[in-house]
Amino acid sequence: MCGIIGYVGQRPCRDILFRGLRKLEYRGYDSAGISIVTDGRFQLLHSVGNLDNLEAILEQLDDGGTLGIAHTRWATHGRPSTENAHPHTDCTGRFAIVLNGIVENYLSLRAMLKGEGHTFTSETDAEVVAHLIERAYRGSLQKAVAEAYQQMEGHFTYCAVAVDEPDVMVGMRRETPLVVGLGQGENFLASAVPAFLAETRAVIFPEDGDVVVVRRDGVQIFALDGASVERAVQRVDWDEEAAEKAGYETFMLKEIHEQPAALADTLAERISPEGGVVLEGLGLGPEDIRGLRRVVIVACGTSYHAGLVGSHALERWARLPAEVEVASEFRYRDPVLGPDCLCVAISQSGETADTLAAMRLARKAGARVLAVTNIVGSQATREADGVLFTRAGLEIGVAATKTFLSQVLAMLLLALHLGEERGVLSGEEVQTYTEGLRRIPALLSDYLEGAEPARVEEAARRYSTSRFFMCLGRRVGLPVALEGALKLKEISYIPTEAYAAGEMKHGPIALLEKGSPVLVVATDGPVYDKLISNVQEVIARGARVIAVASEGNEALAEMADEIFYVPRTEEMFAPLLAIVPLQLFAYYVATARGEKVDQPRNLAKTVTVE
Ligand code: AGP
Repeated sequence: MCGIIGYVGQRPCRDILFRGLRKLEYRGYDSAGISIVTDGRFQLLHSVGNLDNLEAILEQLDDGGTLGIAHTRWATHGRPSTENAHPHTDCTGRFAIVLNGIVENYLSLRAMLKGEGHTFTSETDAEVVAHLIERAYRGSLQKAVAEAYQQMEGHFTYCAVAVDEPDVMVGMRRETPLVVGLGQGENFLASAVPAFLAETRAVIFPEDGDVVVVRRDGVQIFALDGASVERAVQRVDWDEEAAEKAGYETFMLKEIHEQPAALADTLAERISPEGGVVLEGLGLGPEDIRGLRRVVIVACGTSYHAGLVGSHALERWARLPAEVEVASEFRYRDPVLGPDCLCVAISQSGETADTLAAMRLARKAGARVLAVTNIVGSQATREADGVLFTRAGLEIGVAATKTFLSQVLAMLLLALHLGEERGVLSGEEVQTYTEGLRRIPALLSDYLEGAEPARVEEAARRYSTSRFFMCLGRRVGLPVALEGALKLKEISYIPTEAYAAGEMKHGPIALLEKGSPVLVVATDGPVYDKLISNVQEVIARGARVIAVASEGNEALAEMADEIFYVPRTEEMFAPLLAIVPLQLFAYYVATARGEKVDQPRNLAKTVTVE
């Protein structure tokens, strides 16, 4: 969690740093700060709340300095306050640092440092880093930063500057992201590429333990023992426009409308001219695939819901037992795994701490690990045996939308691939499915350009004063109901229960009263009739039914209070379409209530802490 950016160059850096922070605000936004080196001292500015508050006082910083670091925070240790906002400095005021992640042994380090006479001004774990550097400094920031690193436990990225070395910043990482941006006569360090995308596209992704020494005229990377290290320079092809709202009122709405493209990109080059599925980089040969006996999917939040859809597809198409577990629980189990088990870790960011820990546990227990992620160079890609990239593009809205669809699609492709390799599906069967999949982006595009979204918006506005929602589904409709409920919870803050429709009568139906709005995912499938019985049970309690149904289903329109149609498809593909009216419903309920949907309270886009 948290976003960091550092700049060293020839230009005044105050506004460059602030613009970088704006691009990182999705990583956390409860407080922020900037530190700039001018005339042999630090100018420091801290604010509480989102970046608007920092912007309001930005003029207090004289814009003369050409070396600086900045931070936007998501609190872990210490409440959001100006004292706890980064950058943090040491006792002498000669060193300043920004940190993302957690220093797990900070209490013992703090006690040691206090025992030596250091004085702390914040409640954070991060402040120990400034004091450790102060303690280790003997004329070289590079060496002091490296020495501090070796005393710290946990997972973190930090960037440090010293007033005595006004032309250098030093960054290091352990299991959390750090990227270097290479400019002309200027260079950057940041948590993520968008922070400096307006300035340069040439990047380096350092490894854990690299000591990254950044000056205006170049970047050097060293191992902890001081030996020089080479890391490749890569070019990123995102354009800056992709990180902007492109005319939509919010990133979330823009990203909902980008879903057809996200699906098309995730499919690109993965279907052969003959209709087979081609997945490169899985780290699994034909023998490995035939030898698989089980799949365990680990993920959090929306990615977990994509995993639930994937488990249905893996069972049906590859005849592989597939379990799905939230990573935060799985990581503390004692799982029975082995080389015949494939662990699929789904994470759009590839940086979610619980998912990474679950991957490590699965690997330790002997399973092969496949990461399904949207971010090239993310930690998950470094630790997995193989990677299946979703290609949704940058997602900035905290509520995941297009990454969910890409994850579901990636899992469907994986299931088809494993099914064919294992001889469960014939080439013809796979071809039939891939032909269907190829049609989905256009179907979704037509849907989004058609009349349905406006109908959903109109209904959402009418229901926006509801105090409670229930979401129901069965088979692959259940993960859609769970995901729709998560969207409502995240951005509208309305309590929403999601349940397997058949399980309602075992308890949750007691929640319903006259007028309770119940969203039902009722697209076509083998248990459609059973689901309709559940709908009748809901109606009998006086609840109002808002159904998502396959187009042309007029019988359900007679029963339901509202009906949102989606194109008719093969059951397993239905989540790719059925979730969209629920995303839009949640979106318009939230905006009708005046909520800031791109930055829901208490949340952050990337959860790099446990
Ligand atoms: C969903 O809208 C949330 N952003 C959240 O549940 C998210 O899916 C979860 O934190 C997992 O993130 P990841 O996919 O980056 O691992």
